[in-house]
Parts: sequence; structure tokens; C-alpha cells
Amino acid sequence: MREDIKEVILTQKQIIEKTKEIGKQISIDYKGKELVLVGILKGSVMFLADLMKEIDIPCTMDFMAVSSYGSATESTGVVKILKDLDSSIKGENVLIVEDIIDTGVTLSYLKNYLKSRNPSSIEIVSLLNKPSRRKADVMPKYVGFDVPDYFLVGYGLDYDEKYRNLPFIGSLKEEIYK
Ligand code: IMP
Ligand code: MG
Repeated sequence: MREDIKEVILTQKQIIEKTKEIGKQISIDYKGKELVLVGILKGSVMFLADLMKEIDIPCTMDFMAVSSYGSATESTGVVKILKDLDSSIKGENVLIVEDIIDTGVTLSYLKNYLKSRNPSSIEIVSLLNKPSRRKADVMPKYVGFDVPDYFLVGYGLDYDEKYRNLPFIGSLKEEIYK
């Protein structure tokens, strides 16, 4: 598995430290409130699990699964809901948890979709952000790291469902996906 990695972009230590920082900031910003973390399956699972442990206000988790009708490395912009939330978010403070914002198409669609259910607030936290690729207008409230336009795997991010279990984030050798 590791022999398919071209370069380590973020070490496990960097990810853990940044996650702690974001968790602290969220705890400050939402002090006195309750939070619903909405993880986007499956890529956000590792980040959500680690982030939630760093948040010290009452919070619950829920999940959505979406597909974006595309090839493995390019999304097309059409978003299909495969799994919706289990619970109502009306009047709740919702924080969508994502692994990476690339074109932004998925999240801009999802944020509007969930907004129509009248949450008290709705914001986005993403571990990674590829600003150079943005097509849709999404403003995450919290971003871990801006990353260059490489295809990245590890810590939840996959190529063809694999590499999610790498404890760091790395770029994939081009011969693997070309
Ligand atoms: P967007 O709608 O283009 O922002 O797509 C976001 C989704 O595409 C993410 O949630 C990932 O599932 C996937 N994605 C985007 N870039 C990468 C990458 O570099 N590696 C793995 N998955 C990615
Ligand atoms: Mg994803």
C-alpha cells in the first residue's frame, strides 16, 4: 500500500495537532450550545471520530452518504443522496464534517439541501481544502489545511475505496490511477 504513495503531504502528527486546534475552536465558538456533527460518508469518518473527541460541548453525530456520478478521480457535479440523516435537524446547530473540499459542488448542494430543513445554524468543517479547484461557492467555517491539486489518499480519503486506513495523507503515484 505505501509503495503506491508518491509523497507524504501531511503526517499523522500534523493531522492530530490540527484536529485538536479545530476542536478547541469549535468548543469556544459553540459554548453554551449543542451541536450536531453531520459526517459525509465515508471519507470523513476518521476525521469526525478524532475531531469529536476534542469537542467539549454536548454533541451528537449523524451521517449522510452521497454520490457524485463521476469517475474515481473527477466529480461531475450531479449529487445523489444515498443515505439521509436519521434525525430532524430543525432548530439544531449543524456542523457538516467533510474530508476534503475539491470543486465544492457536493457541499454547496448539501448545505442548501440541509438548510431547507430550518436548522438554527449550518456550517462546514473540512480537514482539507483544494482552493485552486473551486467551482461552486462554498465557505467552510473551519479548514485544517489548504492542499495543492494532487490526488490524495489516506486518513479516510480513498482511491477506489482503498488507502482509507493509511494514518497519514499522501499523494498517489500517477501510474496507479492513470
Ligand atoms: P467536490 O464536490 O468536488 O468538492 O468533491 C468532494 C469529494 O470528492 C470529497 O468528499 C472526496 O470524496 C472526493 N475527493 C476530492 N478530491 C479528492 C482527493 O484528492 N482524494 C480523494 N478523494 C477526493
Ligand atoms: Mg467524500
